[in-house]
Amino acid sequence: MIADDHRQTMTPFPRCDATAAWAALRGHYEAHGREFDLREAFARDPARFERLSVEAPEVFADLSKNLVDAATLHFLADLARECGVEAQRDAMLAGEPINVTEGRAVLHTALRAPPGTAPHSGDVHAVLDAMLVFADSVRVRANGGKLRQVVNIGIGGSDLGPQMAVAALAGFAHPKLEFHFVSNVDGHDIASVLRRAVPAETLFVIASKTFTTQETMANAETAKAWFLAGGGGRIEDHFVAATTNVDAAARFGIARTFGFWDWVGGRYSLWSAIGLPIAIAVGASGFRELLAGARAMDEHFAEAPVERNLPMLLGLLDVWYRNFHGFTSRSVAPYHHGLKRLPAYLQQLEMESNGKRVDREGRTLPYSTSPVVWGEPGTNGQHAYFQMLHQGTDTIPVEFILVKEADASAGSATAVIDALASQQRMLLANGLAQAQALMLGRSTAEALAEQPQAPAGTGVDAATLAAHRTFPGNRPSTTLLLERLTPRSLGALIALCEHRVFTAGVVWDIDSFDQWGVELGKGLGNRLLPLLAAPTGADADLGGLDVSTAGLLRRLRP
Ligand code: F6P
Repeated sequence: MIADDHRQTMTPFPRCDATAAWAALRGHYEAHGREFDLREAFARDPARFERLSVEAPEVFADLSKNLVDAATLHFLADLARECGVEAQRDAMLAGEPINVTEGRAVLHTALRAPPGTAPHSGDVHAVLDAMLVFADSVRVRANGGKLRQVVNIGIGGSDLGPQMAVAALAGFAHPKLEFHFVSNVDGHDIASVLRRAVPAETLFVIASKTFTTQETMANAETAKAWFLAGGGGRIEDHFVAATTNVDAAARFGIARTFGFWDWVGGRYSLWSAIGLPIAIAVGASGFRELLAGARAMDEHFAEAPVERNLPMLLGLLDVWYRNFHGFTSRSVAPYHHGLKRLPAYLQQLEMESNGKRVDREGRTLPYSTSPVVWGEPGTNGQHAYFQMLHQGTDTIPVEFILVKEADASAGSATAVIDALASQQRMLLANGLAQAQALMLGRSTAEALAEQPQAPAGTGVDAATLAAHRTFPGNRPSTTLLLERLTPRSLGALIALCEHRVFTAGVVWDIDSFDQWGVELGKGLGNRLLPLLAAPTGADADLGGLDVSTAGLLRRLRP
């Protein structure tokens, strides 16, 4: 149970399952939701696209291919209000300790607020300015050919955000720098990077909020040993840290540290010093654009009414699908290759935030929380798992992210420019077509009409083949549309995702900002580590372990 001084910061609002809106949604689902048909909805309402699309900063969202009507959205908005989503949002933005189990404020939004407009502004801008001066100095060293590789060593939020953003903004990145992201404690990860690097031309960024994470510390030690063995020069010129634990970084031998604070959650930290690799890649002005895009989305989230508030609407759709339709996962399909790490980033953002089983008072929840979030960039996913999305037994809502203008370039030859423009049209046509196919499907009659006879030698008759070629359709999707993938639009897109997760978390009455679920395995891993080093045969130390773990340990010992 939670201490009394935290209890008073808890919401005075009812839990979602005790609201009138929840009961109304249950009734609405039984009466209209279960049998809702998208094709009929579009036939009934030619203005459905206009009615169900939302313009937010940098992001246009088409929500019309979702299994909702006006009544669904009305009840969902009521649900948000009854659960206090707006009040909790305001509490977060004001710096109240809404992370109740850690007694912490949640202020990643302060990292992208202009000076003087949010809590901790002085500290935030002092570090930001220093970090951006350093980032630009690294770019100057790279211009002179003195630096070629930037290796970020971190894991989870200290890896996925910067890695995703640097890949997404490759078109804006310094042309002479290569970026690597090492996270896994598996030495194959760092070894593959070090094999290609030269110590004197490499900058290591040791990124860890705590500066105690086993994987990061192990990789940092390996990097230091490699650097010293290779005669790279002075540690202080080639290692920097991004951490809240400045003392630990100093003990490691790092002189230059960019700090941040316990009110920045790991998975919300790319806007802080953890974003240093992004700042090096795109420069100070690019990083400020990223922050500005996020800030614009923050303002939309803070000001738009629930009915036009895109992050809230997406979070509420997640609740609708998870708790009423019972859908267990959501697939993300970014149709821009630069966003290839977005699904992995979103997995941590959503599943570490909302993968919780008790409410904020510690009571076991009677309803489901985070869906599984997964995906691959389009069109690759189409040739892998989209089969299941179209014809599998489960309905999986899909989120398409389309980017109108491409930045791809491969020289100035007209023929190449034309070829790439044509590829961009193919990409967009594919994304649109997948959403359309999921919604429209293909009836058995249509399949039969298209192919009234099975080809000779198939061994099936026409009707059987038609059954295999039938698509049920009515499968929901959302399309998020960006004009271009730029630092600004990426910032807005990521902030949109953060606030959507927040919205669903408030409705579910969970603490979206702790992550106790990673503790148990970490602790057990530390206890098993010395047992792996023991010589084969010395089994006395395995007593007390479950027999499965003991059996596997015996096999793994040298
Ligand atoms: O896996 C748990 C976690 O605490 C994440 O939330 C965090 O992003 C990651 O570990 C890395 O932690 P740190 O930045 O402290 O090394």
